[in-house]
Amino acid sequence: MSKSALITGILGQDGPYLAKLLLSKKYKVYGMIRRYSNPNFGNLDYLGITDKIDYIEGDMSDESSLINVIKVVRPDEVYNLAAQSFVGDSWRMAKLTTEVNALGVLFLLNAIKLFSPMTRFYQASTSEMYGIGNSNGYQDEETNFHPRSPYGIAKVYAHMMTINFRESYGLFTCSGILFNHESPIRGIQFVTRKITDGVARIKFGLADKLYLGNLDAKRDWGFAGDYVEVMYRMLQEKKPNDFVVGTGENHSVKEFVKLAFEYGGISDWQKYVVSDARFKRPAEVHELKAKPDKAKKLLNWKQKVSFKELVKMMVEADLKRVKTKSDLADSG
Ligand code: NAP
Ligand code: GDD
Repeated sequence: MSKSALITGILGQDGPYLAKLLLSKKYKVYGMIRRYSNPNFGNLDYLGITDKIDYIEGDMSDESSLINVIKVVRPDEVYNLAAQSFVGDSWRMAKLTTEVNALGVLFLLNAIKLFSPMTRFYQASTSEMYGIGNSNGYQDEETNFHPRSPYGIAKVYAHMMTINFRESYGLFTCSGILFNHESPIRGIQFVTRKITDGVARIKFGLADKLYLGNLDAKRDWGFAGDYVEVMYRMLQEKKPNDFVVGTGENHSVKEFVKLAFEYGGISDWQKYVVSDARFKRPAEVHELKAKPDKAKKLLNWKQKVSFKELVKMMVEADLKRVKTKSDLADSG
């Protein structure tokens, strides 16, 4: 019999890639969406799977809705990807970020414990939990957490609660501590997509500047399509466990900018990029770099797309997207 999976955050970046993977493995996929008068299926459309998913309404900040979702679906696996995931907004919306990213996870775990205790649970933990945590130039499963944002703090709560439900009630609950992963359907606020979209707009004359914050921050950037594979593998293991997932190399925002402009056929990026204090953070995470040895060894996981291939893929997708839009505008 085929397995079933519930994905929260189905309309975001990772949800569609994960849904596509699970559909290819013959899962019945349920996608939890918030109540909306007009939900945005753009990312699922991009991967061509909008009609292959069963949708159910639920909101991470509403416990009764999550109880209902779990009672109705009783899936074999839950992948909790829903979050207020933009770090920058988490200072401006600290309460909402805490309700959705921290308390919402407690509600979901409780619902599973009460109404579907055999369900396996994946929590989308994050390298942002490390913040300026102790490391020897990298972060692994042993590194201390010292989050620097309300987002990171809420995610530490959710991470520890996920472990606590495993230890207290014997539930199959896992966390993937994923480092930054990107794609052509990355949200437009995140720096990579903001850059590749900016390059395309400049290229086609729709913008003449790109306003950015801290160009010196370094991140360990991988491709989202590679990372959802590890979420799936974690829930197929004999025992629940937590894993760090990243490429093991990092690059500065400046390096990303330079490469993206090069792929866009623009050599003098300095002419277009403007430093703007609005995009700097009250407390920055200066540098993140994964040591994903455990995932490589126990899950036999390795990323396929390199940093350069990722930047190229994103620039090409945005050039195509912006060109299509400007062609349509020209033709009236
Ligand atoms: P994303 O594109 O921002 O998607 C998040 C999804 O969560 C959106 O579809 C959003 O729904 C949904 N959501 C937000 N608030 C909700 C609520 N109150 N109730 C129900 N759904 C809600 O994020 P992503 O990049 O796919 O990341 C997936 C998960 O991995 C997130 O938890 C993120 O924090 C975590 N993570 C991401 C990365 C990364 O680099 N991408 C790294 C580590 C961890 P709407 O579409 O309705 O807004
Ligand atoms: N968004 C943004 N916009 N970031 C900028 C900008 C800008 O104009 N200029 C510089 N940056 C810097 C940020 O200060 C940060 O150091 C870095 O670029 C990356 O920012 P984001 O792309 O917004 O990602 P993030 O690292 O803060 O968070 C993402 O990765 C986390 C995993 O480490 C998100 O996907 C989180 O949800 C995820 O947990």
